[in-house]
Amino acid sequence: MTTYKLAVIPGPGIGGEVVPEAVRLLESTDLSFDCRYFEIGYEVWQKTGSPVPDDVLAGVRETQACLFGATTTPVGVPGYKSAIIMLRRALGLYANVRPAKSYPTQKGMKDVDLVIVRENTEGMYSGWEFALPDSAYTIRVITRKATERIARFAFELAMKRRKKVTIVTKANVLRVSDGLFLEVAQKVAEDYPDVEVEEAFVDVTAMRLVLKPQIFDVIVTSNLFGDILSDESAGLVGGLGLAPSANIGDDYALFEPVHGSAPRLAGKDIANPMAAIMASKMMLDYFGENRWAERIEKAIVSVLEEGKVLTPDLGGSSSTKQVTDAIIDVL
Ligand code: NAI
Ligand code: MG
Repeated sequence: MTTYKLAVIPGPGIGGEVVPEAVRLLESTDLSFDCRYFEIGYEVWQKTGSPVPDDVLAGVRETQACLFGATTTPVGVPGYKSAIIMLRRALGLYANVRPAKSYPTQKGMKDVDLVIVRENTEGMYSGWEFALPDSAYTIRVITRKATERIARFAFELAMKRRKKVTIVTKANVLRVSDGLFLEVAQKVAEDYPDVEVEEAFVDVTAMRLVLKPQIFDVIVTSNLFGDILSDESAGLVGGLGLAPSANIGDDYALFEPVHGSAPRLAGKDIANPMAAIMASKMMLDYFGENRWAERIEKAIVSVLEEGKVLTPDLGGSSSTKQVTDAIIDVL
C-alpha cells in the first residue's frame, strides 16, 4: 500500500484546531499517511529572520503534498512578508483552486457549483511595492507564461466539469496588463473547442455572482480578483466554515481551508472543521484516491442533512471535535 508523505502546517488560532481534525479523519480511512509537522509565519520570522526558513522548505519538499491551516499576518510590520504567499511561490503553486458548492445547510443559495481558478504567483500580489515620500506603488505583473499556464489549467478543469469557462478581467481599464491576460486566455481557449467561453469584467461578475451564481462553472482570473471573488463565492454557499481550497503546481500541491486563524474563535473548540476536511478531500482527489474523496464528501453531506451535529456558524451548538466524530461515524 502507498504511504503518502504529508507536510502538515496547522498554524496559529483555529488552524491549529481544524487541521489536526482533518488528519484524525484521514487516519480513520484505510489509507496510510506519514505526517511531518512544520511551522512557518510571524513567530518563526521573529526567531529566525525568515517566515519560511530554508530547512523548513527543504523538509516540505521531501513530502508529496501539504495540509495547511492558517497563518496570522500582522499588518504594518516593516520587512515581514506573508508566509503562505512565500510558501506558495517557493513551491511553484501557480493555481489556486477554490470551489463553491451548495451543500444542504440553511445558509446559502441552492444549486451553486462553481470553481474559481485564481492565478497565484503574480498580478497585484507580485510583491513589488515601494513608497516615495507622499505616494506608494504596487506593480501589477501579468506575464504571458503564467497566464497561459493558469488558462490551460482552467480549461482542463472545465473539460472534466460542465465545460464552461468565464475569463474575468478589467481589460477595459487595465488595458495593457489585463489586455494581455485576456489575449492569452482567448488563445488558449482555441485549443478547447468543446468549452463554452465567456469574457466578463470583474465588477459585473461580482454582481452576477450575487444574483445568479448557478450560471458559472469555471472562472479563471488574476490573483487579487480571484481572492475577492472566491471569498464572495464562499459567502454565497454558507460561509468560510465550508470553503476549501487547493494550491497546485506541476509537482507539488498544498491544500487549505480558505479561512484564516479566526482569533476570536480560537481556543473555544467551536470552529467548523468541515473546510479543513474538505481541503483534505481535495488532496485525496489529487492523489487519485477518488473513492475515499467521494466518501468523505458524502459523509459531510450526510452530517449536514441530518443537521444535529453542527458548529455554531451553521446554527448548531456542537464542538469542533463532535463534528469530526460525526463525520467519522458516517465514514
Ligand atoms: P478569518 O478567515 O480568520 O475569519 C473571518 C471570520 O469567519 C471569523 O471571525 C469567523 O467568524 C468566520 N470563520 C472563519 N473560519 C471559520 C470556521 N472554520 N468556523 C466557523 N467560522 C469561521 O479571517 P480574518 O479574521 O480576516 O483574519 C484572521 C487572521 O487570519 C489574520 O491574521 C489574517 O491575516 C489571517 N488569514 C490567513 C489566511 C491564510 O493563512 N491563508 C487566510 C485569511 C486570513
Ligand atoms: Mg482571501
